[in-house]
Amino acid sequence: LEPKTPQYKTSDPNSFAHTSARSRWPIIITQGIDDVHRSIYATQDEEKVKEGKWIVSELAGLKYELQHDRELSPIPDDGGSDIADYNKELEALKPAKWHSVPWLYSECYLYRRISSIFNRTQNWKSYDIFARQKMSTFKSSRPAVIELASRYRDIVTELESKHTIKGAKTAEELEEAEKVLFMEMCEICLWGNATDLSLLTNLTYEDIQKLQGSEARKKSEKNILVNDLDKAFKILSAAQKQGKKERRVDIVLDNAGFELFVDLILAGYLLASGLATNIVIHPKSIPWFVSDVLPQDFAALIQALADPQGFYSALSDDSEESGTKTPPLSEAEVDALKYLFQHWSTCHAEGQLVMRPNTFWTAGGSFWRLPKTEPSLAEDLKESELVIFKGDLNYRKLTADAEWPATTPFTEAIGPLGPGSGIRVLALRTCKADVVVGLAEGEDERIKATEGGGGDSGSRKWAWSGKWAVVQFSDGKA
Ligand code: F6P
Ligand code: MG
Repeated sequence: LEPKTPQYKTSDPNSFAHTSARSRWPIIITQGIDDVHRSIYATQDEEKVKEGKWIVSELAGLKYELQHDRELSPIPDDGGSDIADYNKELEALKPAKWHSVPWLYSECYLYRRISSIFNRTQNWKSYDIFARQKMSTFKSSRPAVIELASRYRDIVTELESKHTIKGAKTAEELEEAEKVLFMEMCEICLWGNATDLSLLTNLTYEDIQKLQGSEARKKSEKNILVNDLDKAFKILSAAQKQGKKERRVDIVLDNAGFELFVDLILAGYLLASGLATNIVIHPKSIPWFVSDVLPQDFAALIQALADPQGFYSALSDDSEESGTKTPPLSEAEVDALKYLFQHWSTCHAEGQLVMRPNTFWTAGGSFWRLPKTEPSLAEDLKESELVIFKGDLNYRKLTADAEWPATTPFTEAIGPLGPGSGIRVLALRTCKADVVVGLAEGEDERIKATEGGGGDSGSRKWAWSGKWAVVQFSDGKA
């Protein structure tokens, strides 16, 4: 079920796990405490206030245990069916102290522990301590959101009314244009917040061609160390040509807000272009790694687009304090955003875009376990033409967060999800943790030698900041 290669641990001073456990996690808990305080002030309900204070004390206790390197304690029973597995694993890791425990398990445990606190209350069960953060970052990406929304409308209306992309005259040109747009959209999904919008500023075939050689595109592309997008496109395009009736693409989501927004842009494009007939998105079931998508984040995003003017003009908690207000949207901007709302809610209502939660995504182990522990989910994913795994944590889980040599083939590092799995995997990952595989010989050393790359410190520092990325594919065939 697990690779023989050892996993990264919080005791390794060369790993990002080390600072994560000592500096990052206490801050995350503190921010959570602040958030609960704000919600306590905002309520009149005495019972809720009382429970809120209990939550704060539990969170403070957790932070104390973490900072004083205590043993991880069994997660109290909150009715969740996943608790037994978490605790069984903890038993096997004993003595598991915060500062010397596998990184992947302990970080998952942290979020599961936090959610168990809320689950054991009456009034705070579905409360998300990270919701405020998620929405305010989405709000602040307004220019990019508007920009993408109007591009999207142009592309999708053209595809839907004329079944083409502006300027493409022949079937070959159309396919080429579709491929370029597919790669652009995937790259926008990849870079998420750090998106260079100049990537998608062109629509006509001639412009798209120019774009292929454009400086801007090249600039961020050189930070993609492995790029298998063309393989993924081939798969979707071949299935379309074969006339296969149902062609499904799955997206194992990562973060809410802008990243979810661009993931839905990709989803809508795949549907409008016919590269897919169905999209299944997989959210998390508990507040997870701060910003991950919960079902209610999807609903909140759609809601925001239904009334964009209201959304952007409402004072956020923070702007209320500073008294600032953003300028109103223009009519054209409102229209573009409402178009998105229309398109996405129609796709959703017609069953072309569905959300499928599963507690497997918030379990404490890696995806190496998927076929054994969640066979029905594995079977389901086999039905898909392509399963896109977004972000850093999903990549850590695919590779079991193990200390692979960087030249290990991706197909080997994903173990049971690799050859013979019947699941087509595409990982879109900006690197925010140590594990990296599938690099060419010498590449790791080359980047280590760049500024801030880690040099010969023994740390792969370059992989911690999100500046570099890998896009890796495995076709799942035996
Ligand atoms: O490296 C910091 C970190 O929080 C990791 O613990 C985690 O894998 C990742 O970032 C989360 O990032 P993403 O949202 O891309 O999965
Ligand atoms: Mg995340």
